[in-house]
Amino acid sequence: MLNVTSHIAHPTSLTLRVLISHIEETLLNMKNPMDDFVDKLQEQIFKETKEVYGDEVFSRWQNQKFMGRMTNASCVGRLTGNCGDRMEIYLRISNDQVEEASFFTDGCGASVACGSVVAELATGKDLEEAARIGGDTVLMALGGLPEEEKHCAFLAAETLMAAIHQWMVARANPDKL
Ligand code: FES
Repeated sequence: MLNVTSHIAHPTSLTLRVLISHIEETLLNMKNPMDDFVDKLQEQIFKETKEVYGDEVFSRWQNQKFMGRMTNASCVGRLTGNCGDRMEIYLRISNDQVEEASFFTDGCGASVACGSVVAELATGKDLEEAARIGGDTVLMALGGLPEEEKHCAFLAAETLMAAIHQWMVARANPDKL
């Protein structure tokens, strides 16, 4: 018996498939004017952010180094700034030395950069050295911040102090370690 489907439908479906894949490829290669607009807008925002905050803050905001809650931390500091943003600093300590540090914040881009600097500076330091990392140290490492965001640096440094304090208290009560 003559199989009409195999004689007619097959070449037609093949042609259709070729056509569809051609259209898909064309659509994929077409730049949506909206995409162009969004790309340009983002470029402009990035440019202005860099101008205001500098390269160091911009790169830490983009890369979010040391960001994340640590599951095996020896201690954690948690503070909320007057602005309402939360900062958390996690430390893993061994022999009174910070082996690993990380941070978490739900705050602004500047607070992300400040948390990242605090975690990086604290890593490898003994507790006395780590406790000397203050807001000014953070500001210096970032090359400064706009006046209205300087408090983000102090929030991050004070949260580090809160973490160290928690460790000291726990060490004084070893049964709670
Ligand atoms: Fe609140 Fe940056 S930490 S504005």
